[in-house]
Amino acid sequence: MAKVLLDDVWKIYPGNVEAAKEINLEIKDHEFMVLVGPSGCGKSTTLRMVAGLEEISRGTITIGDRVINDVPPKDRDIAMVFQNYALYPHMTVYNNLAFGLKLRKYKKAEIDKRVREAADILDIAELLERRPKALSGGQRQRVAVGRAIVRKPSAFLFDEPLSNLDAKMRVQMRVEIGRLHHQLDTTMIYVTHDQTEAMTMGDRITVMKDGLIQQVAEPTVLYDNPANRFVAGFIGTPPMNFYEGHIARENGGLVFNEGGFAIPVPTQWQDALGAYADKPIVFGARPEDVGSAQAEQVEGAPRIRAKVDVVEPMGSETYCHLNTGKTTFISRMDAHRECAVGEEMDLAVYLGKSHFFDPETDKTVDLPRD
Ligand SMILES: Nc1ncnc2c1ncn2[C@@H]1O[C@H](COP(=O)(O)OP(=O)(O)OP(=O)(O)O)[C@@H](O)[C@H]1O
Ligand SMILES: [Mg+2]
Repeated sequence: MAKVLLDDVWKIYPGNVEAAKEINLEIKDHEFMVLVGPSGCGKSTTLRMVAGLEEISRGTITIGDRVINDVPPKDRDIAMVFQNYALYPHMTVYNNLAFGLKLRKYKKAEIDKRVREAADILDIAELLERRPKALSGGQRQRVAVGRAIVRKPSAFLFDEPLSNLDAKMRVQMRVEIGRLHHQLDTTMIYVTHDQTEAMTMGDRITVMKDGLIQQVAEPTVLYDNPANRFVAGFIGTPPMNFYEGHIARENGGLVFNEGGFAIPVPTQWQDALGAYADKPIVFGARPEDVGSAQAEQVEGAPRIRAKVDVVEPMGSETYCHLNTGKTTFISRMDAHRECAVGEEMDLAVYLGKSHFFDPETDKTVDLPRD
């Protein structure tokens, strides 16, 4: 069991590629931390520095209370599970699980105990005599996780371990890894580019972009209070709607004006948004806060006038794609609400969870909330 601490960690590859920059991150003992972000943002690089597979250019990494910058990977007391989990094809599952322990000269009885324990935990006890080619993708993935478990490491590192599996198997393994975390109660760092995986698995999530941490928070905090426009757009499906416009002064108050629609700024936000008067700003509202049954119930809610482009019935709800003439956006409507392509609608906006973003810095404007 161990906490993992990254203190101003950088990775600069030859050719001056800054793959990870000023990474300050504390992963608590027992925590399930997810690193998420688009391709090339530095997730694997960061994880590989913790694993010792990549040299640290600058900064320090501590596991437990030991600085591990110069500790070789095998002595770091961590285990890593990769996307390409390359099992030894000529060995049985049993031997695949036992192999790492044999190399480390564990006694036969201890190896057997650990292999059977891991097989029980992962529900692969029936498969121990099979070879990898006789396993399904999900079963192979479980063996790969098993190889990490038998080592009883103080921390597990996962780099996109589910991306080779089909969608259904991914959802199943996602749940199993979550269960495994509860069962083993060990620190886990999990890399994915899939925001749904991040949201459903993480105790906390670190969102990265261009080698930089954008925000570290619990899933619901990221969702409700994104630090900037990138996080707001990255977390959540369908993504948050962004409307570019400006703040105008009208009758002594402020109004957000998109061009096609206008929303009066609530009194308690006027101070915070005053600095943007006569300036551009970006308004953000999630699909479930525009035209949803909840939004429509709010008395006097402001409205967005827009035309329906595409209707996607999902069964339990309908994704309605609309445009204001300037902005295209999505409304997550009640499945029973009538909406037809080409129709003009006035959609209520629930402001309680909406945001404004500074168009220069992309930062979320801090607004007082009750
Ligand atoms: N050995 C290397 N030499 C030079 N540049 C590298 C090397 N490895 C990675 N990079 C660069 O560093 C950046 C971060 O790469 P990294 O593999 O950490 O991204 P990632 O977030 O894991 O992406 P993905 O989701 O595609 O796996 C990328 O721009 C990549 O091209
Ligand atoms: Mg990667």
